[in-house]
Amino acid sequence: MSSLPLLSYLVSSVCCIMALRGLSGPQTAKQGLIFGIVGMALAVVTTLTLSVVQSYTVIIAGVAIGGAIGTVIAKKIEMTALPQLVAAFHSLVGLAAVFIAGAAFHNPEAYGIGTPGDIHIGSLIEMSLGVAIGAITFTGSIIAFGKLQGIVTGKPVVFKGQHMFNALLGAALVFLIFVLCVSESAFIFWLIVAIALALGVLMIIPIGGADMPVIVSMLNSYSGWAAAATGFMLSNDLLIVVGALVGSSGAILSYIMCRAMNRHFVSVILGGFGTSSGTAAAGEEQGEVVPTSVDEVGVLLSDADEVIIVPGYGMAVAQAQNSVSEITKLLRDKGVNVRFGIHPVAGRLPGHINVLLAEAKVPYDIVLEMDELNDDFPTTDVVLVIGANDIVNPGAQDDPNSPIAGMPVMEVWKAKTSVVFKRSMASGYAGVDNPLFYKENNRMLFGDAKDSVDGILQSLKG
Ligand code: TAP
Repeated sequence: MSSLPLLSYLVSSVCCIMALRGLSGPQTAKQGLIFGIVGMALAVVTTLTLSVVQSYTVIIAGVAIGGAIGTVIAKKIEMTALPQLVAAFHSLVGLAAVFIAGAAFHNPEAYGIGTPGDIHIGSLIEMSLGVAIGAITFTGSIIAFGKLQGIVTGKPVVFKGQHMFNALLGAALVFLIFVLCVSESAFIFWLIVAIALALGVLMIIPIGGADMPVIVSMLNSYSGWAAAATGFMLSNDLLIVVGALVGSSGAILSYIMCRAMNRHFVSVILGGFGTSSGTAAAGEEQGEVVPTSVDEVGVLLSDADEVIIVPGYGMAVAQAQNSVSEITKLLRDKGVNVRFGIHPVAGRLPGHINVLLAEAKVPYDIVLEMDELNDDFPTTDVVLVIGANDIVNPGAQDDPNSPIAGMPVMEVWKAKTSVVFKRSMASGYAGVDNPLFYKENNRMLFGDAKDSVDGILQSLKG
């Protein structure tokens, strides 16, 4: 490769690093996105000008069809459906790695990695790693998509000896990669693909709905490593760098989320080892709940000095963020100290709630992470739990048999009064009943979160 494309790839890699840096905070996220777009555009244009490109027809057709489908999806997709979309996109990265490795195996000359039956050993190793990780990512992401979309059961699917069976399949993959390197047999190559496809399914089915956020970011990491392995095989520096960036940032995000949910990182990346076998207590009678009204909550807020708002997935469903932002402004204008508490897995994707609040122009400096204000609840007058459920469930601390046992939660029940905004007594994502609803100092404000917040707004203004 001549020096101009290399320089261009280098600039593109730096743009991707800057993109990740920008995306690490809401203030810099837009800037990060611009870096990402510039980096990717540069990478695509540079690649298209390389001498190895012999015809543009298929490439242009692919870009037109893929771009059209992507544009329609991006315009139509609901914010709440982003996790399954991300999972679906990861499956395509995995599939692409399998296709590229397959093409390179059957036509190595076209890729400059040897001749049929005499592929360079290094390329064979890179190819088999790419194809194995890609195939696991492909089927694993499809199962994750199915679980998040509700097509496949969100409950863990387990059978006796499952972990041992998965471990055996993993060991078989390593052995077959060795055999492939020695024999270059097409049968072994496709056997690796078949076993890796099966392993992808088996690794994700035992994982329960509550652990899905970690799985999505873990599959993100896998897709990055599959791309990096493909980059090594193709001797494409940019693909190696970008693949490694995606792989490592996905792994770091998975680790952070594992800590937030008190899950073992290694257990999760190996496919649900140690997944809680606890049973959900949804539907069990735990006492009486105390319903309240928008006017009563209006009075509570008028008398309060310290207010914390804990938003969850229901705020996103109700699209209540703008009304929540208005209430916040009104209370702050009256001298009330209003802050937001964001749980790391609130909503349905990392940063989901932060994005909504930023969109509604809630000042960043009052949006705090769980650890930053979990100790402040005892001195808080009113906590508004808006469409959140699992992330404020005291059962995670009190009930060792709960499927979410050990997951750190926002300790809203320690405030003087907590008010839960939701439409019914239904459980949250993890399917667990929530003892918070039955606490003496808790009130239930039933109804759509946006209607309730709008009602409170009227009551505060009137
Ligand atoms: P959830 O536990 O899912 O609870 C959301 C609550 O919102 C539900 O109980 C629901 O009750 C209520 N709700 C829904 N629509 C509403 C509306 N229009 N108005 C008012 N309330 C409404 O949400 P959470 O507390 O944010 O916890 C997140 C859960 O999702 C965790 O279990 C987490 O593991 C999982 N998860 C997270 C992610 C990421 S990365 N954040 C990804 C996948 C899964 P009603 O039906 O009674 O209204």
